[in-house]
Formats: sequence, C-alpha cells, structure tokens
Amino acid sequence: MYFLIKPLLFQFDPERVHYFVTANLKRFNRFPGGAAISRALWDVKDAALEREVFGLKFRNPVGLAAGFDKNGEMMGEMANLGFGFIEIGTVTPLPQPGNPKTRMFRLPDDSALINRMGFNNLGVDVVAERLAAFRKKEAKGKPKLIIGGNIGKNKNTPNEDAVSDYTKCFDRLFDVVDYFVVNVSSPNTPGLRELQEKEPLMQLLKTLQQRNSKNGISRPILLKIAPDLTNDQLNDIVEIVQQTGIAGIIATNTTISREGLVSKTALKSEMGGLSGKPLSKRSTEVIRYLSEKSNKAFPIIGVGGIHSPEDAIEKLNAGASLVQLYTGFIYEGPGLISRINKKILAGN
Ligand code: FNR
Repeated sequence: MYFLIKPLLFQFDPERVHYFVTANLKRFNRFPGGAAISRALWDVKDAALEREVFGLKFRNPVGLAAGFDKNGEMMGEMANLGFGFIEIGTVTPLPQPGNPKTRMFRLPDDSALINRMGFNNLGVDVVAERLAAFRKKEAKGKPKLIIGGNIGKNKNTPNEDAVSDYTKCFDRLFDVVDYFVVNVSSPNTPGLRELQEKEPLMQLLKTLQQRNSKNGISRPILLKIAPDLTNDQLNDIVEIVQQTGIAGIIATNTTISREGLVSKTALKSEMGGLSGKPLSKRSTEVIRYLSEKSNKAFPIIGVGGIHSPEDAIEKLNAGASLVQLYTGFIYEGPGLISRINKKILAGN
C-alpha cells in the first residue's frame, strides 16, 4: 500500500510531508475503529517477541528512533503501527525553533536523508505534561508502552553549563519515561559532540547517575553515540559505561561522513547528519566493536540504516539487544516493522 502513496509524498518537501503524514495518522487513529484497524494491519503480537532489557519488558524489539516524535505527540499512533517502544525527543529545557528551513533533504538514490533540524522542540515542560497525560490514559487500562526520553541541551547553552540542561530535562521527565537517552552525538548543535570526550562525558553521566533515584526507583540511562568516533574513542566509551554504571548504549546517531554515496544531486553536500542505507555498515561495525570489546557487558540498541528485516537481524547478530528505525520507516513504510518482527519470529 505504501508503495502507492510514497511516490506522491516524495514530490514534496520532507519536513512538510512529515507534518502532513503525522496529522493524518492522528486523525485516522481518532476515527472510531481507526486504532484497531492500524493494529490489525501492522502490529505483530507474540510472546516470543518480548524482550527484557535493562530491567524493562519490551513487547517487541523494534522501536521508533529519536527525532520522529520530538514532542511526544504520536506515541500511541506509532505503537499502533507495530513499534515495540517509542523514543521521544531530543527534548531541551527551553523550547527552540531549530535551524532555518529547509533543513531536511532526501537522497532517494541512496535511500538516505540528510537533516540539520537542530533540536527543534517545544521544551521539556510541554513534553512532560503531554507524557503525563498519556500515562494517565494508560492507567485506565491500556497496556503500558515503553517510552524513552532522549535529552539534550539548548543551542544557546554553552558547553560549560550543559550538565545543568541535561539535569533539568532528566528531573522533569523522570516520572513519565521508562528510560533516558543522553544525546551528545547530534551533528546539528554546534559543539555538542565535544561532550563525547572522556572528561565532560564522565562528569555528565556521573551527575545524572547521582540524581537517578526517586522513591526507590531509578531509570536506565543510555548514551547515544555518533558513528564517527574512532576506535580509541569507542574504547573510552566502554570504560565510561563501566565506570559510571549507566545501562547501555544507543549506536548510532547520524553521520557527518558522505563516503560511498551514489547520488548525483547537489543535495548530498548539504550540511547535517546523514541517515539511512549508507549508514548501515558503519553503525553495525560500531555495535560489533562495542559488544566484543566489552564482552557483552551492557545492552546496545542498534540503529542506523535498517531498511529490511535482514538489516535488523544483522544488527541483532552484531550484539544489539533491540533495534530502532527512522529513515527505513520513511522509505519502506510501516510494513517494515511487521516484516522485521515476523522475520525474528521465524527464527531469522
Ligand atoms: C534524527 N535523529 C535524531 N537522533 C536523536 O538522538 N535526536 C534527534 O532529535 C534526532 N533527530 C533526527 C531527525 C531526523 C530528520 C532524522 C532523519 C534523524 C537520528 C535518528 O534517531 C537515528 O539515530 C539515525 O537517523 C540513524 O537511523 P536511521 O534513520 O538510519 O534508521
């Protein structure tokens, strides 16, 4: 079905298409029976898909990657398409508009996207309230959906003050998310990736871990890393996870590399992070490296260029416990989620 509408959607600006599609998905789900139809078409339910990772029970291992639902508006709708968990954000303490438009580009010949959104979001207060309302509805009987809160810093916050931005988001979202993701790997906030260096990262994660307890509850904290790190930096990451006791890693964010692209369009030189098929190999390499180097000491969520069930299996075999999609979902449609889940059920 998606292959019929995709050529039309791909005629228009990708960011406008995003808002158009999400608004219509919401409308469809509000329509009596809409949510049930969505689940019947796409959601694969099977106890054999359930996974227990960092103490949380996932109904299936295929999640929505950060950046699609930045403001926590689409969680129920995306779960109805079959995702086993949803990561919202990146959320910053204050609302911010992000970079000037146009800031998202398609490279269809590479099945890729370039984006430099720049953490456009409504700010942590609005998002926390939305999530609280969602949780309240869930309490009335819906099964609990695993939601990750991906947090970052505002563009205008200097790196010296970054810790306070992350702690604000952490404290504000603590009661309404199931796990946290510390995003220090977006290429679109100037200087952000400098926080991936050992010292600042250690300080940031230690500070969050110190606050990570409320009424006896603590939340798994994951670190999301760039695919552009060197092996030395990856070695540091393994050490940091072990020293700070955080729950795991999300590998990877988008890349600043443009290696291996076949697209002839000038759009491939746009500034920003590249996602989709060209990222797949490198992100799997990073997963494998971390998994082997650490002796599987911590869970990894694998993300980057999953466009087929085989791509997802490759990441799981490389050491990922769960996977996430963004660009593959745009190129292949919601059918990709159920195809991955069915392939996993079939024993690969
Ligand atoms: C992203 N991604 C992202 N990641 C993150 O941690 N915070 C964010 O706000 C965003 N925003 C965002 C916007 C857009 C338009 C895209 C395409 C991607 C990165 C995303 O979560 C994922 O890590 C990469 O895109 C790689 O996976 P895919 O897209 O190849 O499946």
